[in-house]
Amino acid sequence: MSLTSTYTLNNGVKIPQVGFGTWQTPDGQVAEESVLKALEVGYRHIDTAQGYHNEESIGEGLRKSGIPRAEIFLTTKLWNSNHTKELVQSSFAESLKKLQTDYVDLFLIHWPNPVMYRDNWQKANAETWAAMEELYAAGKIKALGVSNFMIHHLEELAKTAKVMPAVNQVFLAPGEEQATLAAYCQEHNIILEAYSPLGTGRIFNVPEMQALAEKYNKSIAQIALRWSLQHGFLPLPKSVTPSRIQENSEIFDFELAPEDMALINALDGVVGKQKNPDTTNF
Ligand SMILES: NC(=O)c1ccc[n+]([C@@H]2O[C@H](COP(=O)([O-])OP(=O)(O)OC[C@H]3O[C@@H](n4cnc5c(N)ncnc54)[C@H](OP(=O)(O)O)[C@@H]3O)[C@@H](O)[C@H]2O)c1
Repeated sequence: MSLTSTYTLNNGVKIPQVGFGTWQTPDGQVAEESVLKALEVGYRHIDTAQGYHNEESIGEGLRKSGIPRAEIFLTTKLWNSNHTKELVQSSFAESLKKLQTDYVDLFLIHWPNPVMYRDNWQKANAETWAAMEELYAAGKIKALGVSNFMIHHLEELAKTAKVMPAVNQVFLAPGEEQATLAAYCQEHNIILEAYSPLGTGRIFNVPEMQALAEKYNKSIAQIALRWSLQHGFLPLPKSVTPSRIQENSEIFDFELAPEDMALINALDGVVGKQKNPDTTNF
C-alpha cells in the first residue's frame, strides 16, 4: 500500500486512500505551498470546500505543480448557504473557476441541516442533490457524496436520489469511530472519509497515544492515521508544515496489533465527538 493506493467508489471511480486536508489553511501563499509540498511527497488527493475560502490558491498550487489534472483527485464541498438548485449551479461554477479546472472528482454537501434551511432541510437536500446529479450527468463531477450526514439524513436523501452517495465525510478520530454509522455506510457501499483524523491537533496531548508512538517507534500522528486506515476509513490529515506533511504520508510500513486498535477505539471522546448536525449554529 502507498499514498496512491485506492478505494473503488460505488460507481467504479477510484479514490486515493489518503487525502490532504486544507481546512483553516489560509488562502494565499500558505495554501499554495502546502498543496505543492503535499503533491511533492506523493499525495494525489486534495480536500477543500467552498467554506474554506482557499479554493483559488489550491487551484494555483495544482497548476504550478505541473502534474496532469487526471492524476489528481480533487474534492470540494457545497457551502451551507447554497442549498438550492440555482445556488448549487452558480457556486459550483465559481468553484471550478477558482480551482482552474473543468471538473471535480468529488462534490459533497458539506452539512445536511444548515441553520438557513432548518425548517425544510429534507426538501432543500433533495433539490440540492438533484442539481448535483445534473452536474454529475454532465461529467462535471465524477462522484457525488455528502459530509456530516447521520443515518436519518442518508435515509431521507435516499427517498429522492437517483444516484446514491459514494462518500460520507465525517469526524472519525481516536475515540470516535462512529461504529453504527460506519456499519450503515459499509452496508450501503458508502466510503467513509475521516475528517480531523488528528482531532484538529488535540491528539498530541493524549498519553496513551504517546505510549503507542514509543512502542511502534512512530509519531502520534502516524499511529492515529494508521488506526484510521486499518478501520477502512480514508483519512484527511491537514498540515501546513512541510516536515509534518511528509511525516503524515509515511504510514504504510507498519501495522497496529488488534489489541492496540482496541485500545485506541476505547479512548472514548478523547479528542471530541462528531458535532450534531441538527443543532449546529451555522
Ligand atoms: N467536512 C467537514 O465538515 C470537515 C470538518 C473538519 C475537517 N475536515 C477536513 O479534514 C481535514 C483534517 O481535519 P482538521 O483540519 O480538523 O485537522 P487534523 O488533520 O485532525 O489536524 C490538523 C492539526 O494538527 C497539526 N498537525 C498535523 N500533522 C501533524 C504532525 N505530524 N505532528 C504535529 N502536529 C500535526 C496541524 O498543524 P499545522 O498545520 O500547523 O502543521 C493542525 O494544527 C481538514 O483540513 C478538512 O479537509 C472536514
